[in-house]
Amino acid sequence: MGKVYVFDHPLIQHKLTYIRNKETGTKEFRELIDEVASLMAFEITRDLPLKDVEVETPVGIARSKMIAGKKLGLVPILRAGLGMVDGILKLIPAAKVGHVGLYRDPETLKPVEYYVKLPKDIEERELIVIDPMLATGGSAVEAIHALKKRGANHIKLMCLVAAPEGVEAVQKAHSDVDIYLAAMDDKLNDKGYIIPGLGDAGDRLFGTK
Ligand code: PRP
Ligand code: URA
Repeated sequence: MGKVYVFDHPLIQHKLTYIRNKETGTKEFRELIDEVASLMAFEITRDLPLKDVEVETPVGIARSKMIAGKKLGLVPILRAGLGMVDGILKLIPAAKVGHVGLYRDPETLKPVEYYVKLPKDIEERELIVIDPMLATGGSAVEAIHALKKRGANHIKLMCLVAAPEGVEAVQKAHSDVDIYLAAMDDKLNDKGYIIPGLGDAGDRLFGTK
């Protein structure tokens, strides 16, 4: 069973409060999502393996550390996942970025795939699937499935806010995938919105309705 981590860092929790606020406009919403994505990237990379290296400083040789192991790849779920990419790339600038395009049919709430473009070497990369919202879990389950079908074998899922139903769906479908969140909310409403959530993440990020 995949583990669930909720990042309780005060800065993440403080900024999330502004993100949730319905009075927060598009510009500020976008900036805050970007900032929280950076902070979450800091936390999610805590367990990256290190190797010992030597580096020549202006006055001597230092025994130091560098990141070892698999290279990273980011896979935002379009559209709303895009809002978190730049924030993560600020900390991991060499990561490659793939895209999975899914939208949730408003009637059935089932995800519909419309675009997949991934780095060629995904089977050699540790992938972080990114989406601010994990509601029914349908989109994340389908996105992870799309990656595995193409050879990915080391996947983490990073979302801002989740409903218990979504976490359960991902754990059931992909028991090898750990989930990283800023908040675990109460439930879904009958339209599949996370309660209390933050509303429609894509619409608030891009100013659509
Ligand atoms: C939202 C959100 C997730 C999905 C979550 O996207 O960004 O991708 O819903 O819901 P689920 O867990 O029930 O699948 P949406 O389909 O609204 O598309 P958008 O990002 O283009 O707005
Ligand atoms: N997608 C969103 O953007 N918000 C929700 O609450 C659920 C799905």
